[in-house]
Amino acid sequence: MNDKEQGQQGQDDWRRVRFDVLEQIDKLPSLSSVVHEFLVLSRQEYFTAADFEKIISKDQALVARVLKVANSALYGRSRTVPSVAEAVVLIGLDNLKRIVYAVSTEGLTKRDLAHYRFHPDGGFWLHSMAVGLTAKVYAEAAPEAGLRGEEAFVAGLLHDVAKLIIDDFLPDGGPGPVDLQDESAAVGLNHAELAEYMLKQWNLPPAITDAVRHHHDQPGAGAGNESGILLGLAEGLCDLWRVGREHPVDLSIEAPVDAFLPALEQVGLDPSRWEAVVWDIRQQLAGIEDLYHQGA
Ligand SMILES: [Fe+2]
Ligand SMILES: [Fe+2]
Repeated sequence: MNDKEQGQQGQDDWRRVRFDVLEQIDKLPSLSSVVHEFLVLSRQEYFTAADFEKIISKDQALVARVLKVANSALYGRSRTVPSVAEAVVLIGLDNLKRIVYAVSTEGLTKRDLAHYRFHPDGGFWLHSMAVGLTAKVYAEAAPEAGLRGEEAFVAGLLHDVAKLIIDDFLPDGGPGPVDLQDESAAVGLNHAELAEYMLKQWNLPPAITDAVRHHHDQPGAGAGNESGILLGLAEGLCDLWRVGREHPVDLSIEAPVDAFLPALEQVGLDPSRWEAVVWDIRQQLAGIEDLYHQGA
């Protein structure tokens, strides 16, 4: 398929969706414009922490939530973080951005889904957060995949967002786990395709919408979907550890590199670095269940 045909296919996808599905999407809480503005600013060559403060202070409800998380035990502060400006100094701009992205998407991820096998105690949020944190580490270790760390985090947070919508349209009591075909049969698109449509509506950049669209692609099937393969790789590791599927999470389960070789090759991550990367991911995911209960 050439680029033009591929573009055409992308444009036509949404026409396969049931009309009442589009209506449901309109009813979702809209993604704060802060996410879009932060991502745009982060891509610029020059920016200051004050530029981020200016954007976030337009949304006072978000500021209040962000400060609550910044003041939680998570960041182990001995003194209170009273303002966004001080948060930048005390916890750093990267941490502040991470909290902003997580808090801005929690209306979409702190949900219970009836038909997908997430743990009822925050499983969907834990899965989304874990895939985001994991994808960020991979993206930084494999820059050739074309996804910046911050974009990978947001892509991970939102990669399964369309399940929220599809969940309402699935028949009850299916024989096994819901697969992509079940989703297409129910609404006309699978959750990766429908999420692309939703994220475009929310003005997220192509790097993120492409990655989400392709996160269930098989490695080796063709070039151009490396960012999606990277996101799928993150999901594979989180599922191996049962994050969001079972409590407690077991990060000690071995992650043999052999199971991931085709994906590693496609994203340009040398298998000799696997152990170090997985160690880093374990550090990121340690205590993730506490993170959920602390309201992060
Ligand atoms: Fe997922
Ligand atoms: Fe998925």
